[in-house]
Amino acid sequence: MKVALAYSGGLDTSIAIRLLQKEYDADVITVSVNVGQGAAELKEAAKKAEQLGAIKHYEIDAVREFVEKYVFKCIKANGLYEGYPLSTAIARYPIASKLVEVAKKEKADAVAHGCTGKGNDQFRFETTIALKAPDMKIIAPIRELNIDRKRGIEYAKKHGIPIPVDIDRPYSIDENLWGRSIEGGILENPEHPPPEEIYAWTKSPDETPPKPRVIGIAFECGIPVALDGKRLEGPKLIARLNKIAGEHGVGRIEIIEDRILGLKARENYEAPAATVLILAHKALEQLVLTKEELAFKQIVDQTWADLAYRGLWFDPLREDLDAFIDETQKRVTGTVKVELHRGNARVVARSSPYSLYEEELVSFERFGFDQREVAGVLKFHGLQGKILRKK
Ligand code: ARG
Repeated sequence: MKVALAYSGGLDTSIAIRLLQKEYDADVITVSVNVGQGAAELKEAAKKAEQLGAIKHYEIDAVREFVEKYVFKCIKANGLYEGYPLSTAIARYPIASKLVEVAKKEKADAVAHGCTGKGNDQFRFETTIALKAPDMKIIAPIRELNIDRKRGIEYAKKHGIPIPVDIDRPYSIDENLWGRSIEGGILENPEHPPPEEIYAWTKSPDETPPKPRVIGIAFECGIPVALDGKRLEGPKLIARLNKIAGEHGVGRIEIIEDRILGLKARENYEAPAATVLILAHKALEQLVLTKEELAFKQIVDQTWADLAYRGLWFDPLREDLDAFIDETQKRVTGTVKVELHRGNARVVARSSPYSLYEEELVSFERFGFDQREVAGVLKFHGLQGKILRKK
């Protein structure tokens, strides 16, 4: 049997290689998809795949596709799930899609992933695979053989699998260009504050520069196109902003998250660029969208994030919502200035050719209309309440 495995080089997927070979009697083709997790991780994965006897290893560059087809949509939808800037979540779809492509090309008998039965990733992988290749067999060795972390580590030791986690730092980390998630170990007890050692992209606020930095972000139709006046391609812009905002300690997130299964999980994230871009994007929307659009879009955004989180990216509703979102984004063009300082990001200025803000009308200094006319509006404001109270 030939199996294509989504491979990150981490512990679970490394164990999965051996399990597939030993318990499923399979030849394993490993597939690593580059979604901006860094060259070192990819190199390590290629090395380990060979060490562990994969018959073939694929490394597929999907950074641009990830940014343009997933991250940009996420920015337009202000994609937050319970405060989590959807990063791992939206990267699973391109990874699963590429996995299926390789499996078809290689005429594999099945695809496999290293997800456990507790998390969300199994939903994202399997729903995508089933849609792209309805007849493809899916193997989930970690879940099917009921392997927990402790048994996994034992198995790894026994079968010569290099272990990236040690006893002191038993974290499960997932990284892509849009964010970094850290779970496990001491973090599983929400009474413990996250230790400094979990962070790799952000400085502790007491080590950040004492002076704030103001950064200008230009958007065109809801998409960020320039930093401080310099036009940059999406992947570059995001990478650069991750550095700048991370340097100022921006983008650390700690939440209790409701997983698809209903489990509450304690999650820690680093997402400097995502934090700043979503903040800035929302600020620009406030300037250019009407009150009605903003209120309705909030509902749309939330439903969008829910679908993206719950493995339902390819649900027709997500596409329907994107059609609405894209229509609203036609005017989301302009520049937002964000001040970064000591772990905080705050909007300090915004401008747009589509701004609905009329200084003339709202100013305290002068009146752009005859204020006496408002008396007529006031007469009718809260009319039904006034009638009721009179009874
Ligand atoms: N809770 C996040 C999500 O569901 C992060 C999951 C991280 N996954 C991982 N295998 N470490 O998207």
